[in-house]
Amino acid sequence: MNRLVEPEWLDELPPHHPDAVRSRQDLRRLNSLMGNLSILSGLLQSSAEVWPSGQIVELGAGDGTFMLRLARRLSHHLKQAHVVLVDAQDAVTHETRAGFAAIGWTVEIVTADVFDWLRQPMSQPADAMIANLFLHHFSGPQLSELMKLATERTRLFAACEPWRSPVALAFSQMLGFIGCNAVTRHDAVVSVRAGFAGRELSSLWPARSQWRLQERSARMFTHAFVAERITPP
Ligand SMILES: C[S@@+](CC[C@H](N)C(=O)[O-])C[C@H]1O[C@@H](n2cnc3c(N)ncnc32)[C@H](O)[C@@H]1O
Repeated sequence: MNRLVEPEWLDELPPHHPDAVRSRQDLRRLNSLMGNLSILSGLLQSSAEVWPSGQIVELGAGDGTFMLRLARRLSHHLKQAHVVLVDAQDAVTHETRAGFAAIGWTVEIVTADVFDWLRQPMSQPADAMIANLFLHHFSGPQLSELMKLATERTRLFAACEPWRSPVALAFSQMLGFIGCNAVTRHDAVVSVRAGFAGRELSSLWPARSQWRLQERSARMFTHAFVAERITPP
């Protein structure tokens, strides 16, 4: 399957539109079905104990609930942390913000295009930058730029994306059976076609000799990628 990047409906809808709210609920269920929370927490847990600043950034964070569930898992290793949620739309509720406060973590919501935000200077690199169901929105040249900016702003980058495979495509075409709305059904198929396979993300990562890269399919529908800096910037 060749990679095909097309617009997704959720990105066009205002954040409080009922179809968008419903689609973000569907995304929570899909993240559970895909096992992305377990996959990402597994990728981060071993290094989280030694993160010096406890700063974690999520690119394309959506309503922030995925990061909140990840934070609850990581809080066993990391008592205090600062989370930055970057998304083009502000869909984060007061309950989600309160969820971070309840585990003693602080949260900052940034409503911005991810490229604009990444181009701004940062006082210190983040300990970790994550992306969940987000990188597939971008073409190869856009991803190269995003990754280059990320290498200057984080020590570790981890992503869970749709695996571009026949089995994932078949699953994405059946989401009506589990009650997903039209927005989710459209975006899921588009997302799998724009997803990743093989070593596609590693091949775009810059300065590869300074980073340890891992890339693999995970469970039935996910493509996981981690880049960990092994030499000082
Ligand atoms: C499929 S959702 C995933 C949200 C979240 N990571 C999750 O797993 O629930 C993709 C998100 O990317 C955001 N997005 C798309 N293009 C963006 C851009 N250029 N800059 C910032 N956010 C963007 C959308 O607003 C949307 O919330």
